[in-house]
Amino acid sequence: MSGDVTAQRVLVVGSANVDFTVAAPRLPAVGETVSGGTLLVNHGGKGANQAVAASRLGAEVRFVGCVGDDDSGREIRAALEAERIGVDGVGVTREAATGTALIVVDGEGRNQIAVAPGANWRLALEHVRSRADDFAWAHVALCQLETPLETVAWALEEARRRGAVTVLNPAPVREGLVDLWRFVDYLTPNEGEAERLTGIAVRDLRSAAAAGHALRRRGVGTVIVTLGAAGALACTGEGDGERVMRAPAHAVTVVDTTAAGDAFNGALAVALGGTSRLEDALRFANAAAALACTRRGAQPSLPTRAEVDGLLRASERGDLP
Ligand code: RIB
Repeated sequence: MSGDVTAQRVLVVGSANVDFTVAAPRLPAVGETVSGGTLLVNHGGKGANQAVAASRLGAEVRFVGCVGDDDSGREIRAALEAERIGVDGVGVTREAATGTALIVVDGEGRNQIAVAPGANWRLALEHVRSRADDFAWAHVALCQLETPLETVAWALEEARRRGAVTVLNPAPVREGLVDLWRFVDYLTPNEGEAERLTGIAVRDLRSAAAAGHALRRRGVGTVIVTLGAAGALACTGEGDGERVMRAPAHAVTVVDTTAAGDAFNGALAVALGGTSRLEDALRFANAAAALACTRRGAQPSLPTRAEVDGLLRASERGDLP
């Protein structure tokens, strides 16, 4: 990927939140109060994060989502526009406030996230259907599970019908998942999500591959299990059998892992919209995810194309930090 010029058209259908993040000495246990943290307020939401990631990496991006009729919603829309993202598909509801996430990050960069979805759960099927032009425009369509499942299923089916590559980041895994697997070209669970989706305890590469194969048998094209510091493992193949491909992570100093998965998905969408091979796309996405771990917050942490290309070149030369 390094050096490729990209002008892929990525459509993201998903969530947008305001994130209140406390960097604390450690994560609280049930019923415990942990003091001594510092607060960061910024924009998040898996959908908006993935849209920002793809735009910073050089794609043309449009976002379809729903915010509240409040200051947060207006600020989110303006911020997405400032990132060069098409926001005509951002609807506004008076029935709920803009989505909010409460995040705690510990000294090792691990997080706990609780979300009040608010307006994200008011993203109506009629609204998504009204964005037909966006589906016709897109090379890649990217969804997550923070909006109503019927909108996710419809978006994936419509994108597939229009000839776009479809990517589903199944985060967070929810009850009542409809049968949408056959519309998914690339499914990108992390270890916990792969485990919840399959019942297979994902503890190592072997069990990650077993979960990936199980999800492929449901009709998904390629399953990419993200494994944190162990990189990513892809289960793919056509006709003549299964192929497993592993891309190691880039070693970085981890500050905050929030939105690392979103950086991975946004970058993957950019790479898949181009001509890159799957292994190059995985390296590119791993580099974006690694860089997102080196900075605090969700959208403030998402890297630029120059940063990702720089890390890939450093990794090729073997002079990593
Ligand atoms: O993936 C990180 C995101 O999850 C945060 O930005 C938060 O808003 C939640 O949606």
